[in-house]
Amino acid sequence: MTEIGGMNIRELAETYGTPLVAYDENMLRDKLESFTKHFRSDTIRTDVVYASKAFNCKAMISLVSEYGCCLDVVSGGELYTAWKAGFDCSKTFFHGNNKTPDEIRMALDCGVGTIVIDNVMEAQELIRQIEGTDRQIRVFLRVNPGIEAHTHQYIVTAHVDSKFGISMLDWDEIAYVTDLFEGCDNTAFEGIHAHIGSQIFDKQAYSELVKKMFAFAAKMKDELGADITSVNLGGGFAALYTSKDHPIPVDEVCDEIISACEEANSSIHNQIRRVLIEPGRSIVAEAGYNLYKVGYIKKTPNKLYAFVDGGMSDNIRPALYQAEYDAFIAGKEDEEKTATYTIAGKCCESGDILIQSIALPQVNTGDILVMKTTGAYGYSMASHYNKLALPAVVFVKDGQAREVIERESYEHLISLEK
Ligand SMILES: Cc1ncc(COP(=O)(O)O)c(C=O)c1O
Repeated sequence: MTEIGGMNIRELAETYGTPLVAYDENMLRDKLESFTKHFRSDTIRTDVVYASKAFNCKAMISLVSEYGCCLDVVSGGELYTAWKAGFDCSKTFFHGNNKTPDEIRMALDCGVGTIVIDNVMEAQELIRQIEGTDRQIRVFLRVNPGIEAHTHQYIVTAHVDSKFGISMLDWDEIAYVTDLFEGCDNTAFEGIHAHIGSQIFDKQAYSELVKKMFAFAAKMKDELGADITSVNLGGGFAALYTSKDHPIPVDEVCDEIISACEEANSSIHNQIRRVLIEPGRSIVAEAGYNLYKVGYIKKTPNKLYAFVDGGMSDNIRPALYQAEYDAFIAGKEDEEKTATYTIAGKCCESGDILIQSIALPQVNTGDILVMKTTGAYGYSMASHYNKLALPAVVFVKDGQAREVIERESYEHLISLEK
């Protein structure tokens, strides 16, 4: 692979500098199209909500808008970016377990379409702010269905202690929140939401979730009189990081979910009229590449290090949860892999290792090391540790690159300091 989005990788690095985050724009578009094309039902309205925490910037949000998707935001900052991108805020879902009173006010001012309520106190705060005004907002309640899915496993537990949502077992709280919204003229309590994990490879986790959510919506209607007509199943769709990963193709996972929804709906008299999914990672991860320039090479008794000019400051995932990545050296794709390297960043932290062990051709100072599948939770989790400036981000399409986020300068870095 010598190109990203039809543009030579070394040329990209020379033009925009390193570290650089480069997205293949056509891959982003293909993913958005694939989800919107396959997440369809003849009997239930469907919506794909892009979880912008995976990568939130104006250019990405404009793409999301082009494909008619909705948008998940979890903070005033993500919402502000959407608003500045000209996104139709009525299609945003405002998430988060601790939306501040200011953020709730902002959501109301921006005309956020749906707020996903996490807990009792947040429900009370929303009612306090909205009651008696001329504002209207749709409300979904985040529930904890007791299903946890991560990578190849899912478990059904009675785990009630998640920081997110109200447990389905906590019926009194669900009833209390329902009463609050039913008694408020400014809120339309329409849906329930759940998100069960990340990097999920097991289709069954979703069909299990569908069954639980639809049955719970029916129970809320029967026992509490809540007219729940929407179910949001969250995100978690896996991406391919290394050859060990085998993500379920988008069409397959969508078919599985849609069939499960249609079947579950028929058993509850078609109460549900709208289902939603919230993919983040699976839309942006594989389209993103981090380009680094190799600095010094260091040999220790047991390791051969290649140091790069970024690190945990632009991709914390390896340090945070031992995430694994694949990489290659631009221009040496066809060369024999003659040595095993440890790819280390430049931060003052022993844990700043981007790849523990990878076979590569001989790596030299000045080479461009390309890490694959860095498009999700890389830039969005970036930090200024060691006062490293954030990299530039480019979208590359049909051989042309456009800078969508500028590289930070040292001036930017201290611009807020008094
Ligand atoms: C509520 C919610 N929806 C969607 C997502 C997106 O998950 P993923 O990027 O794994 O698809 C998350 C991730 O944390 C989430 O918390």
